[in-house]
Amino acid sequence: MSNYHIKSLEEYFQVYRKSVNDPELFWSEIAEEHFTWRKHWNNVFSWDFSIPEVKWFEGAELNITENCLDRHLHIRGEKTAIIFEPNDPEEETEYITYNQLHKRVCTFANVLKDEGVKKGDRVCIYLPMIPELAIAVLACARIGAIHSVVFAGFSSTALSTRINDCDAKMVITSDGSFRGKKITNLKGIVDDALKESPGVKTVLVAKRTNNKIKMKKKRDKWLQPLLDSAYTDCSSEVMDAEDPLFILYTSGSTGKPKGMMHTTAGYMVYAGYTFKNVFNYTENDVYWCTADIGWITGHTYIVYGPLLNGATTVMFEGVPSYPDYGRFWQIIEEHKVNQFYTAPTAIRALAKEDLEYTAKYDLSSLKVLGSVGEPINEEAWHWYNENIGKKKSPIVDTWWQTETGGILISPIPYVTPTTPTFATLPLPGIQPALMDSEGKELKGNQVEGNLCVKFPWPAIARTIWGNHDRYRDTYFSAYPGMYFTGDGAMRDEVGYYRITGRVDDVIIVSGHNLGTAPIEDAINEHMEVAESAIVGATHEIKGNSLYGFITLKPSANGKDRDELRLEINRMISERIGPIAKLDKIQFTEGLPKTRSGKIMRRILRKVANKDTNDLGDTSTLLNPEVVKNIINEAL
Ligand code: WTA
Repeated sequence: MSNYHIKSLEEYFQVYRKSVNDPELFWSEIAEEHFTWRKHWNNVFSWDFSIPEVKWFEGAELNITENCLDRHLHIRGEKTAIIFEPNDPEEETEYITYNQLHKRVCTFANVLKDEGVKKGDRVCIYLPMIPELAIAVLACARIGAIHSVVFAGFSSTALSTRINDCDAKMVITSDGSFRGKKITNLKGIVDDALKESPGVKTVLVAKRTNNKIKMKKKRDKWLQPLLDSAYTDCSSEVMDAEDPLFILYTSGSTGKPKGMMHTTAGYMVYAGYTFKNVFNYTENDVYWCTADIGWITGHTYIVYGPLLNGATTVMFEGVPSYPDYGRFWQIIEEHKVNQFYTAPTAIRALAKEDLEYTAKYDLSSLKVLGSVGEPINEEAWHWYNENIGKKKSPIVDTWWQTETGGILISPIPYVTPTTPTFATLPLPGIQPALMDSEGKELKGNQVEGNLCVKFPWPAIARTIWGNHDRYRDTYFSAYPGMYFTGDGAMRDEVGYYRITGRVDDVIIVSGHNLGTAPIEDAINEHMEVAESAIVGATHEIKGNSLYGFITLKPSANGKDRDELRLEINRMISERIGPIAKLDKIQFTEGLPKTRSGKIMRRILRKVANKDTNDLGDTSTLLNPEVVKNIINEAL
């Protein structure tokens, strides 16, 4: 029996049982056999979800980049680590070997040191999907700096909030980004953000698009000349197992984004282990995840997971629709991709296009297809299975979160029989629980409830940066002694899990988590807006679209409504980013409220989804007449 690479269903059940009965032994064997340590741990793990506190491999010392790079050099130094596929198919693909990647990471790490970055400092990375992004991440890890990658689609305000929250002293960016036909001046966005973030002393700028940008004296430096004059050797900083590795922000249902903090050893072991099993990666495979490194999927399954396993990982700069809708399939053919990992929203968008786009390319290299970010609907699942996998590549519907660091529930390909729309079984080490509304665990099968995890796993986020109380309140207070995911799920008659969606005020739009509160805050800043409430409306491609109910101040009388809609969306773009724009805005006289003054979003959700025949229990509704108006206006 191999703990590390599960090959049969029988083995899965054996391994799973072991992981539950003797988690110490299970995880220590994996950590020992498949990773490199500077010093062994004293204790495999300790935990107390009531504080909450979780520690893995305490006492151990290591550096994750030695595990991602150095240890591979003598066996696969000339193997391609990263295939960089540029936005424009006419531009040459870049193949970066493990030797080259090692050298580039070390050189970049020396630049960071030269610029005064030290162990424990926070470095904000705001880059497009170019090799420098992966290299910057690893360079931070090399010297023990904590990386905080911000997705380059976020606005200057969102960027500055994240920089200030973790007190980053450096920002790494580029002159611009290419996405399809569009060039975005990323440096300009950073300049705007830094007006509100005086703590940033240095901005390193990678050259990508050659558009004109402004460089502020002393603060801003072109990256390339610094790399050219830096040493290429850099020994790695020795890190304690629980030293922070990175912070990654995710939306909450209220207030500021949450800076999820992940630490070194546990994250590493879990990223490596889950990558190997969920994608059934074998030595010469080419693996491609289409996510952006600005999200957790990119952290764990473009950078760390693949490199920990000595894999070849594709980084794609562009979009699925440029130069045409065949781009994904063309890349699969060109690089003979074996594992392909994408989001349901992309699948739905591509499924709408002519089948010729998929038929034109040779997709026979594919062995595993993955899905992540939101529930995959049955239609999209079948389209993916038939047209991309040709019914021979298992689909792994992987459920997890920024907070979990790695995949928790997923089929193992060629091991777990798949069922459309089911994430199926927990990975070894994961002990899910479904809870009812009274806080009791629902035992047995054929039950539906709120999804929790009752035992720690190595990659669980350790805290929200700077706000441990919020960490406890958000994840560990609803069900004492358990981690609450914020998702609902059902367990069917064979014990398979199906994720039914968020049960809080987070809406997933095209695979991006958006909290309603920050969007409402942005809208409410508009001079003419009195109050607003955002809900999700089912959308054919995006999964959900944002539907806003907005009441206006009397001063808005006579103002053009469409003009107001444009202004409101412009404000959202500026405060958060274009991904948070509303698809529909309904101006209304009032919002349905409970007697205690809470907005009844459940009712608004029904209106937005044109499902108002049965409004459910409205006994606590303060203003029933408002509901009638809202329904009539929506028709
Ligand atoms: C949702 C992304 C159903 C879920 C890795 C979760 C999913 C949130 C799936 C986390 C899936 C992710 N099926 N829902 N396979 N994968 N989700 O933090 O609601 O960006 O809580 O992490 O996405 O999103 P996040």
